[in-house]
Amino acid sequence: MNKQSLLNGIIWMLVIFPFAQLGYGFYQVQFAGDIFYYGPEPAKAVVHTIGQWAMGFLFLVLSTRHLKRHLNLNLMPMRRRLGLAGFFYALLHMFAYTALILGFEWEELSQDIAKRPYILVGMLAILMLLPMAITSTKGWQRRLKKKWKSLHMLIYPVAILILIHLWWQVRAGFLLASSMTLLVSILFILRFYPKRLAQAKTSSNL
Ligand code: HEM
Repeated sequence: MNKQSLLNGIIWMLVIFPFAQLGYGFYQVQFAGDIFYYGPEPAKAVVHTIGQWAMGFLFLVLSTRHLKRHLNLNLMPMRRRLGLAGFFYALLHMFAYTALILGFEWEELSQDIAKRPYILVGMLAILMLLPMAITSTKGWQRRLKKKWKSLHMLIYPVAILILIHLWWQVRAGFLLASSMTLLVSILFILRFYPKRLAQAKTSSNL
């Protein structure tokens, strides 16, 4: 097995793992009688876990070009799968929130948003991920040509919205929020700073 197909297999397992982990948790709570499997606040724990996986996949998408360039780890062919996994787990995170925390009491949603506006920020992030998920196929890439690239640059503002979503609810999660901010800052610098540097060089050469 060559390195690339091994990587492919690992990414498939990584994408499926959170779902399997949730299934196992559900089995433990519902059928094995381990009602404290998720700790004292199971609803919050489930929402947090899925949210963290969604964020992990989306930030991994942002990292792919740098992993290839600097660590010779080519996840570029798996970018679509990672992005869709991020979108899928973000949707599941939203579903878990409405089911386990809101209990589908829709009239409570507006009160909860007023109390925790970061929910709205999360919704905006999902809304921005939607066109990227829809147009992630080769067909759309061909049809949209240059516009495809611009549309998929939306992942950068989405990353900022996710950080806002995190910082706005920061309590015990200070370490998570600060480490994710550091990661995103490094990724932004690697992505945009060399371009600026090159532009400055060419204009000084003119
Ligand atoms: C791309 C979209 C999103 C991502 C990546 C994301 C990520 C996260 C993460 C990582 C956490 C846990 C923070 C921690 O462990 O300290 C979290 C918490 C939370 N998220 Fe999201 N989120 C997204 C969208 C949404 C949406 C659309 C909603 C609601 C409609 C939402 C509602 C919540 C709530 C309520 C919590 C806190 C749960 C609690 O402590 O009660 N998120 N989110």
